[in-house]
Amino acid sequence: MKLNLGCGPRRLEGWLNIDTVASFEPDRVIDLEQTPWDLPTDAAEEVLLNHVLEHLGASTGTFLGVMGELHRVCRDGALIRINVPHPLHEHYRTDPSHVRPITPQSLSMFSQAECDQAAAVSSPMTPWAHILGVDFELDSVQYVADPRTEALLRERGLLRADDRAEDFAEIYANLIAEIRIELRVRKG
Ligand SMILES: C[S@@+](CC[C@H](N)C(=O)[O-])C[C@H]1O[C@@H](n2cnc3c(N)ncnc32)[C@H](O)[C@@H]1O
Repeated sequence: MKLNLGCGPRRLEGWLNIDTVASFEPDRVIDLEQTPWDLPTDAAEEVLLNHVLEHLGASTGTFLGVMGELHRVCRDGALIRINVPHPLHEHYRTDPSHVRPITPQSLSMFSQAECDQAAAVSSPMTPWAHILGVDFELDSVQYVADPRTEALLRERGLLRADDRAEDFAEIYANLIAEIRIELRVRKG
């Protein structure tokens, strides 16, 4: 099974398209903030959350519930593709239904290996993977620069040809527009 969670109007052929808004005509109307989800355990081989995760879990408990359900419905080795606006970019701040900044670092708190490593060096990081009994491995991270901001900075020599845009995102808040993250589900 492949899950397109928060599909909106972009339904994917061959996927189970899910949204809370019935007028998008998803295959299933499910409010992902209400857990548990009415979906089978260990069933999904691929999950897509394209500009959705930042809409879920204004409260910590709700967000943790979503992460727990994501892990439950996936089979071992499932790939979860998460695309989110960069929390420092105007795109994130504009939409009032963006309730939670998502970064690769915040998602790595749901990796057993990352939590083991943090515990070994007595890091103060909350070991969410240990607490929830989930395991999501950070498979890949891609930063997508805002083309207009990047071109402007390069034109003015504020970014050199060999500079990576993501290293300057903290200084130039609108530089990185999107983060594309792939998580690999690990079970047993
Ligand atoms: C920015 S849109 C992205 C839509 C689609 N993924 C795309 O790529 O165009 C966010 C989507 O998440 C859905 N959504 C927000 N909160 C949700 C929830 N609690 N449960 C299910 N879907 C939700 C919205 O209805 C909307 O369709």
